[in-house]
Amino acid sequence: MKNFLDQIHTTLYEKLGFKTNVFDDAFIEKVLLDRIQFHSVLNLEEYFQLLLKSKDEASILNEKLLNSHSEFFRDTLTFSVLESIVLPAILIRLKSQNRKEIRIWSAACASGQEVYSIAILLEEIKRNTTAPFTYRIFATDQSNIQIKKAIEGKYHISALNKMSLKRVNDWFIIDGEMVSMKQELKKNVEFSVFDLLHPSLSSPPVSIFGDFDIVFCANLLFYYKDEFRKLILSKVSKSLASDGYLITGETEREIVRRNNFIELFPRSAIFKMNSTYFKMRNENFDEGNIQYRA
Ligand SMILES: C[S@@+](CC[C@H](N)C(=O)[O-])C[C@H]1O[C@@H](n2cnc3c(N)ncnc32)[C@H](O)[C@@H]1O
Repeated sequence: MKNFLDQIHTTLYEKLGFKTNVFDDAFIEKVLLDRIQFHSVLNLEEYFQLLLKSKDEASILNEKLLNSHSEFFRDTLTFSVLESIVLPAILIRLKSQNRKEIRIWSAACASGQEVYSIAILLEEIKRNTTAPFTYRIFATDQSNIQIKKAIEGKYHISALNKMSLKRVNDWFIIDGEMVSMKQELKKNVEFSVFDLLHPSLSSPPVSIFGDFDIVFCANLLFYYKDEFRKLILSKVSKSLASDGYLITGETEREIVRRNNFIELFPRSAIFKMNSTYFKMRNENFDEGNIQYRA
């Protein structure tokens, strides 16, 4: 298997310029098995021959590895704890620190559903509170294509499955089979391309300084090798405000817990840095021999 994986890493790099050797072996194996089943080929060797002959298949495989699936209010428990506990706590802290702005980074925003879900929560809180506050969401992804989709904010109507009718009426414009986000959800969002494996930067240049109250880094850690997960989490920790929150995908909770973060509410996928890690975070992370993407 390892040999075939090495060959596939090399082929994808030579054909598409994409370095897949950063991905977790189990994740790659699962994607490859899905493709083997899809083509009804017998084994990895046959699939590899097919892959060598077909540019289309190489690019489909590349897309599967990049995995840009997203949903509005994706993890129900996470968003409900965010709405009822975390955001109100941040508002209280804002007041005590004499600050007005909540700073949020959605670090792998894909086509934007996560960003607009956060903006909906914040706009709804604004409508129901007398305490004035502003917010800025920095929404980034490594993929230019995903960022363009996120800026457009247009989705198939099936994307609204988890949404209450009130939210649909309040925040979406329906046009046949498609829905678009209302403009007011975009006014406090800055979209830009940013690679979390950037060799030196810890947060997107457009944010100027990190100091985020919340960083969403959801549903991408699981597909990286452990050293890259550590690197991404180290960057995120440097960009968080001292009492900031990290939010990941529900399936990534174990990875985050193993890396110096404490889950604040059971099963919520909402974390804070542990105090030792917090003290260490300004020291240079040992990046060893990590090979970054070309
Ligand atoms: C499965 S989507 C998750 C989208 C959203 N966070 C969610 O949970 O619904 C994963 C996204 O991570 C992005 N991604 C993967 N590696 C990245 C990196 N090194 N830097 C920035 N974005 C990355 C991919 O382009 C993809 O859009």
